[in-house]
Amino acid sequence: MVGLQWGDEGKGKVVDYLADGFDAVVRFNGGSNAGHTVVIDGQRHTFHLIPSGALKGKELLVGAGVAVDPAVMGEELSLLPEGARGKLTVDGRCLLVSPMDKELDSALEEMRGPSAIGTTRRGIGPAYAMRALRLSPRASDLLASFDFSPIESFYRRFGLDPGGLDKWAEASRQLLAPMIGDVAARVVDICDSGGSVLYESSQGTLLDLVHGSYPYVTSTHTVSSYAPAGIGLSPSYSGAPLGVMKCYLTRVGGGPFPTEVAGELGESLRSLGKEYGATTGRPRRVGWLDLVSLKYSMSINGVREVALSKLDVLSKVKEFKVCVAYKIGGSETTDFGRALPRLGEADAVYGPTFAFRGAEIAGRIPEPMREFIDYLESELKVRVRLASYGEDRTQTIEL
Ligand code: IMO
Ligand code: MG
Repeated sequence: MVGLQWGDEGKGKVVDYLADGFDAVVRFNGGSNAGHTVVIDGQRHTFHLIPSGALKGKELLVGAGVAVDPAVMGEELSLLPEGARGKLTVDGRCLLVSPMDKELDSALEEMRGPSAIGTTRRGIGPAYAMRALRLSPRASDLLASFDFSPIESFYRRFGLDPGGLDKWAEASRQLLAPMIGDVAARVVDICDSGGSVLYESSQGTLLDLVHGSYPYVTSTHTVSSYAPAGIGLSPSYSGAPLGVMKCYLTRVGGGPFPTEVAGELGESLRSLGKEYGATTGRPRRVGWLDLVSLKYSMSINGVREVALSKLDVLSKVKEFKVCVAYKIGGSETTDFGRALPRLGEADAVYGPTFAFRGAEIAGRIPEPMREFIDYLESELKVRVRLASYGEDRTQTIEL
């Protein structure tokens, strides 16, 4: 399960819905920058690190590609409702996010000034960077004797005080030690004995570190092909990816956004869709659906089937548009990959306008909504398998 846009596509709800058909759910990328929400009877449950299959009592796995903030993990576990907590394993190869990473994240954002990325300040970028520098401890390093002196010297050299790192490591060890294991081996075990595992991505394709709108991206891969690599599996352990897309767009933080809707209309779309960050509470930028970037995302992920979210929000607006091309420096393009370096200059070219105000899903999709879905299916060469028309777990229809 992957996000096809700029994150917040509704992945948490889809994972919760699909989890019934799986033995376990595994996260393979990102960290507590993610915010995956499941709503049951008006109660919101937001997951940052724990896989969103938690409320279905599934076995939960945190793969090696995930950046684990032990403090967040501890808090999330304590918030899980009684009886919801399945068996949880954290891979020993997961990198850890320390308070120093969070401090560095904020310092780097301030350093960038007006070109700040608008990160979640959860320390994710610095944590991955510290691993690339081979300085930070990983989960399994908490169980052995790890030499913290190189990373402490590194911080001191750049004027930061690493005091307290030893205390943090000890608290992290106490929390994580009982959960540390080999997630890759567990997935292989389940699959080889006829079971199945749902791979849950965080963030969205357009935030992929390499293939997204760099530098306004996150610091890991968010594409489907990273699922086996992030967990530590051969590609033969991947099935067909399901893409999740919202029927309009949102983006949190800086960076280009060709279909952004500002002003009163944007304000109204944001409030109708309750578009405020699940992790940071920031108002999300909003805009119309963009088929140019979606075609790129479908292609890079190999997605042939999607879940479509938030149809109810569009049934509250008078009408809405769909972007079919970009205009950059006087010429039109539908090639997102080629447009990427100049995305900031791209003006959206809109195709058809749709309207289904007041249309309600009651057991079946009403005609005007069906036309919109048919249009998406034919333009994107994709099957819409699941549609979500409200935040509650029950407001989901299979197509
Ligand atoms: P889910 O899993 C939306 C964005 C941040 C920022 C950029 C880099 O809920 O879809 P980072 O903290 O990762 O270094 O920030 O990425 N971002 C997200 N936007 N949904 C998310 O996760 C995001 N995770 C990171 O807003 O623009
Ligand atoms: Mg989210």
